[in-house]
Amino acid sequence: MKNDGSSVTSALGKLLAQQVERAGGWLPFDRYMAAALYAPGLGYYANASRKFGALPASGSDFVTAPEMSPLFGQALAAQVQEALDATGTREVWEFGAGSGALAQQLLDALGKRVGRYTIVELSASLRERQQQALAGWGARVRWVSELPERIDGVVVGNEVLDAMPVKLLARVGGTWNERGVALRTPGQDAAAPGQPPSLFQWEDRPTELRPPVEVAGAHDYLTEIHPQAEAFIRTLADRLQTGAAFFLDYGFPEAEYYHPQRSAGTVMCHRAHLADPDPLDAPGEKDITAHVNFTGIAVAAQDAGLPTLGYTSQGRFLINCGLVERMEQASLGERTAAQRLVAEHEMGELFKVIAFHKGAFWDALGFRAGDRTHTL
Ligand SMILES: C[S@@+](CC[C@H](N)C(=O)[O-])C[C@H]1O[C@@H](n2cnc3c(N)ncnc32)[C@H](O)[C@@H]1O
Repeated sequence: MKNDGSSVTSALGKLLAQQVERAGGWLPFDRYMAAALYAPGLGYYANASRKFGALPASGSDFVTAPEMSPLFGQALAAQVQEALDATGTREVWEFGAGSGALAQQLLDALGKRVGRYTIVELSASLRERQQQALAGWGARVRWVSELPERIDGVVVGNEVLDAMPVKLLARVGGTWNERGVALRTPGQDAAAPGQPPSLFQWEDRPTELRPPVEVAGAHDYLTEIHPQAEAFIRTLADRLQTGAAFFLDYGFPEAEYYHPQRSAGTVMCHRAHLADPDPLDAPGEKDITAHVNFTGIAVAAQDAGLPTLGYTSQGRFLINCGLVERMEQASLGERTAAQRLVAEHEMGELFKVIAFHKGAFWDALGFRAGDRTHTL
């Protein structure tokens, strides 16, 4: 999809404005984010724009690890193989498969050891793209849009939890509010020169909701809570009968997430490989994300009967899974790209891996050195 740059006239803008009106003039941010990303045909993940890719020239907005280097999937495959063996299962389930790059890498590496590869995909346009990319695998790969009652196998999700809608909480003048979206009052917040004004503005309403840990101090503070990601993990805990689940994403344990100095929250938008902090501008034309509170995810899983197998940085996890040995066999270009997956100032430290197990615990490959479960 080519962006026309006009958020005012976009069909999604109109749909969101109707939703705000129908909700009585104020929409909680999680409902705004859900529609901006997933409204059928219009939301960022539901429309036909390219989204994933290495460079802006491709028309893409951001790069993810499997797009950056196939060594990502090859290293993860070593962990998936071990998990299939440890849990006695033969199926892989991937949530939110993007362009299909990770599925290709895992299937190439694991071959016949995967009996069936199921992709759970919300977006019809991404599903189509994945079907083209994975056509060569025939009936071994299938797609579902909802979770079945029972899953046995190894689940993977790369940058899926950060794409789940969050609620915004704002402490202003010592009072906690839920931050939501209202229609813009004409004449207020003039747009940047040459830009159409946004249809929307922020509006805070007092709330009983609180961050999961007290935020020290009395200063103004904006943050997020993640009820949808936690509900997603509870559902997974319920449906996974035998197996394990691995989620890779950017975020922190809650003590870091709700640190008094992190006072502007983590919501961020991505378009043409640039980040901006304004989700009210140009909905549908850019990705909206929030960092993951890994403690919240681990607690939700644990309470629902899905204990943690391990938690560590992406860099440590991939090195444990043999990334360095794979890099030694690769070309200089491939090594440079793969280095970004583990370098501390790139994806190696901000990105984490959390895993869960249904069935007996085992000392999983990716967490054998440098496990940080105790920090959750
Ligand atoms: C940032 S993209 C990551 C795509 C891909 N995994 C990658 O690494 O390139 C987020 C993906 O998560 C998907 N997603 C979000 N919530 C989901 C859910 N509840 N079930 C399945 N997929 C979901 C989105 O549709 C989108 O494809």
